[in-house]
Amino acid sequence: MIAAVLKERFPGETRVALVPTNVPQLAKVGVEVLVESGAGEAAGFPDAQYADKGATIVEDLAAAMAAQVILKVRAAGMDADDGADVFGELRPEHVVIGSCDPLGQPFAIKEWATSDSTLFSLEMIPRITRAQSMDVLSSQATIAGYRAVLLGAMELPKMFPMMMTAAGTLKAARVLVIGAGVAGLQAIATARKLGAIVQAYDLRPACREQVESLGGKFVELDIESSTSEDQGGYAKAMDEAFYRRQRELLADVVATNDIVVTTAAIPGRKSPLLVTADAVRRMVPGSVIIDLASERGGNCALTQADKRVIDSGVLLLGPTNIAAGVANHASQMLGNNGVKFL
Ligand code: NAI
Repeated sequence: MIAAVLKERFPGETRVALVPTNVPQLAKVGVEVLVESGAGEAAGFPDAQYADKGATIVEDLAAAMAAQVILKVRAAGMDADDGADVFGELRPEHVVIGSCDPLGQPFAIKEWATSDSTLFSLEMIPRITRAQSMDVLSSQATIAGYRAVLLGAMELPKMFPMMMTAAGTLKAARVLVIGAGVAGLQAIATARKLGAIVQAYDLRPACREQVESLGGKFVELDIESSTSEDQGGYAKAMDEAFYRRQRELLADVVATNDIVVTTAAIPGRKSPLLVTADAVRRMVPGSVIIDLASERGGNCALTQADKRVIDSGVLLLGPTNIAAGVANHASQMLGNNGVKFL
């Protein structure tokens, strides 16, 4: 079997679907690897490194498409418009493995289906222990949570740790994480390591123990949440009255924090609005909000996808591809996910 790793064509996508150390792992199970020249460049993996590990470098997309298996970070709905040249080369014998966003972009999937190729959407891997090594949502969310806190730390006009110095005592920064899933838990851990006081909120009661085990304080809101988790461990969509009450109660908590990282998502749906404009305006000027749900509408009323917004002195960031900022490690994790799946 021959597998090809393609260059990503989506603007700002620096990750690559396979890294050089994956090449011998695939060779061991009889899979030869073709690399479209420059595919790993932006993630810090030049062609020579792949070649050293036994891959064949090919000059262009058409040559790479001689492979049967195509490995991509973004395919179909995740690569809408910018994946047109890849789509144009697809044949029925191709098996494409990558993130495809079938729930968010059903029309793109319909279009790709006309090629009669086979498409595996890696973000649809079941969230079960056995599948964890192939789970791109988990691997990339881990990076997103870490990076979000670092972004906030760099923008905040304060340091994270409490410091008693000859020039006076500095209070520790306060960080609130809303949504304590994979990204949220990593954000809590990172903020704690930097010395912040961390609070976290999630509507799934099961998160309390996880938040506390990382040194965070679980925020309890006076609101019914016993039916907030589905059988797969995901949050369920709640009714508007629930969200309204949640926003009201959260506003008081948001106002007392320096940094708010929001990660609340419902698979395949628009993200719930949890931080209102009013809540933002009650924060101290200089505070920072990093909305990791901004790709699906955002958890904060004032964030805009991939824009820097300043409102009442509060900085709002809504990065949609934050893992691309840590392209080397993000690709290493994606490569391992892809190899395990293949
Ligand atoms: P996600 O990205 O879908 O959502 C992030 C977090 O936002 C979740 O914890 C969710 O409960 C929370 N949330 C949604 N709406 C909210 C609201 N209105 N208010 C407050 N919080 C809200 O979730 P993610 O990170 O992909 O993982 C969700 C769960 O999936 C995990 O906690 C776990 O149970 C399960 N999982 C299991 C794995 C396994 O292999 N066993 C691997 C990864 C995830």
